[in-house]
Amino acid sequence: MPRGELKVFSGTTHPELAAEVCSYLKRPLGKASAFKFSNDNIFVAVNENVRDADVFILQTSCPPVNDGLMELLIFIDACRRASAGRITAVIPYFPYARSDKKDQPRVPITARLVSELLSVAGADRVITIDLHAPQIQGFFSIPLDHLTARHNVAKYFKKKGTENKVVLAPDAGSANFVEKLANLLDLPYAIVDKRRIGNEERATARGIIGAVAGKDIIYFDDEISTAGSLQEVVRLLKEEGAGKVYASCTHPVLSGPAIDRIKKTPLEELVVTNSIPIPQKKRLANLTVLSLGSLLAETIKRVHNGESISALFG
Ligand code: R5P
Repeated sequence: MPRGELKVFSGTTHPELAAEVCSYLKRPLGKASAFKFSNDNIFVAVNENVRDADVFILQTSCPPVNDGLMELLIFIDACRRASAGRITAVIPYFPYARSDKKDQPRVPITARLVSELLSVAGADRVITIDLHAPQIQGFFSIPLDHLTARHNVAKYFKKKGTENKVVLAPDAGSANFVEKLANLLDLPYAIVDKRRIGNEERATARGIIGAVAGKDIIYFDDEISTAGSLQEVVRLLKEEGAGKVYASCTHPVLSGPAIDRIKKTPLEELVVTNSIPIPQKKRLANLTVLSLGSLLAETIKRVHNGESISALFG
């Protein structure tokens, strides 16, 4: 079915990434304004015609998370009421994804709740990157394109050289995710026996399954939040005789004590993507930021043209 004109809009959370996407697509950023009234209510105005257009709204999850989410829902509503032809929410880092199952009595499944909120607001489709758990895709009743930053990370480490390196999954839950990076790099991988009790943010690393002594390590995770896992895993790696440690993740949440912890952790380098904006004060000397701009832009172009997304990762 022929689509209306492709239009990319940006919420207020990550205008730099939206600008990169537009520059790759050689299209101007859609005109819109978002602000808060003095009563704390968020308002969004779409300042150009979107009737029948194929609209993409880029909004990531970063503090203040709830404002960003609400703004996205309102943005979608505004486009729907302006008769957009199709609305795609482009959410590089998906909010509330860590609550994805009822693993304690009387707790919510907020990832599911957010997926329903997006549909109710009027989103027809979602594009996101490295969900905390791939099964979250099943919470959506609208099409979802689940991208990965793994290829960007693999390309970076390939360039650096893979000799004497082992890829490390910081816990059993991430083993499958990390195995795919190890396959791209043609490297062995190891898994940390990491346990987190209840809702405690701090986890304990108890042992490592796989050989790490004398090896340089590529640690890979979907996100680094408080960096408690990273600090704990690197402590154990050093005890077990590992060499240099390169840490990497898709989503640099870097919340609370993260920066202090990373400063105290013997890391050769921290490699992340720009799925979330990183303020200057968090940009440590050993930080490398890989851009997801071209991946998102190429995906948007393919969704618009009805082309395969998986071919992007072939
Ligand atoms: C855990 O399930 C995730 O994959 C990450 O390992 C976790 O979110 C990292 O959190 P933090 O940096 O706070 O230890």
